[in-house]
Amino acid sequence: MPEVRCCSSLNPFLPRFRALRGGVLALLCLTAAWGAHGALALQRERTSPYDLILTGRLAGVPGGEKRYVRWSELRALPTSKLKLAGEFVKGEQELTVVFLTDLWAALPRGAGADTLLATCASDGYASVYRESFMAGCRPFLVLEINGQGPEKWPPPGLDYNPGPYVISISPGVAPAVAQLIDPGHKKPWGVTTLELANFDERYRGSFSGRWAALSARAVAGREIWINSCASCHRGPAGTFGGTKSDRTFEVLAAYAGYNADYFKRYVRNPQGVMAGAKMEPHPHYTDAELDALIAFITAEPKQR
Ligand code: HEC
Repeated sequence: MPEVRCCSSLNPFLPRFRALRGGVLALLCLTAAWGAHGALALQRERTSPYDLILTGRLAGVPGGEKRYVRWSELRALPTSKLKLAGEFVKGEQELTVVFLTDLWAALPRGAGADTLLATCASDGYASVYRESFMAGCRPFLVLEINGQGPEKWPPPGLDYNPGPYVISISPGVAPAVAQLIDPGHKKPWGVTTLELANFDERYRGSFSGRWAALSARAVAGREIWINSCASCHRGPAGTFGGTKSDRTFEVLAAYAGYNADYFKRYVRNPQGVMAGAKMEPHPHYTDAELDALIAFITAEPKQR
């Protein structure tokens, strides 16, 4: 089995995606026959490196325990074939995918589960998919590239292994994707685990305490934070976030509060500020968007 490298939407293919946005050639959408709702079989033990780990609010599973789903079980869900240009390698490729809405319907969801959190064990990267996002932006789990499953990855021409799982989105599949500020943060590769989460519970720290009554721009900044920065950073009061960054929220808040200029330069171009920075650049952020982020991170209160 090829080594599973760090995931993230990161540097390896984010720019490629940007450049090839709109490169969808055709959407075949063939739905296979499949079983009943909530029909995915969960295993207690791992049987293959290509099993997907499920955690969180699983019906009938004690909290804190994990379960495994086999690739073949996922392949038996309703799948679609998407023809995309440049998704993994140059030129056109056919992907066999399961839309997260269909996966969601097949999962044994426990009470309160309203969000999927995709995480990558090797580098701690995390992507969040709320039910409204699943419906509006149609994210999909990639099961095959040109008919080949993950045991045959990477496909010829790709110099890293995107497996065991990749989630992606495409403006050709859902036009709403073109409106996202950071589509790359919804395209993690190297995904090993899906958590069935309750959004309010996992992100409570960003909505309570000093973050309960925020200014309008801080509220806007919170959206950017949760959908982008929290892929790698934990939020206020230890609220959920990826663990790729070792900088605490307090460190970020100190930069945001006392050195906004440094903060903005870093967020836009980390490598330009610190050689070897692992953080992904966000060169497209406007001053207003960065001010919104600063307002969120420093908990700018609502005017009375
Ligand atoms: C792909 C993962 C990733 C994402 C996404 C990310 N960061 Fe980071 N960030 C890091 C890492 C890793 C570090 C530690 C320094 C480094 O290697 O860049 C860091 C460090 C920082 C620092 C501190 C720089 C210093 O000098 O210590 C700030 C400020 C920061 N991030 C803000 C943000 C904001 C705001 C966002 C959202 C727009 C964001 N980050 C998104 C990974 C990420």
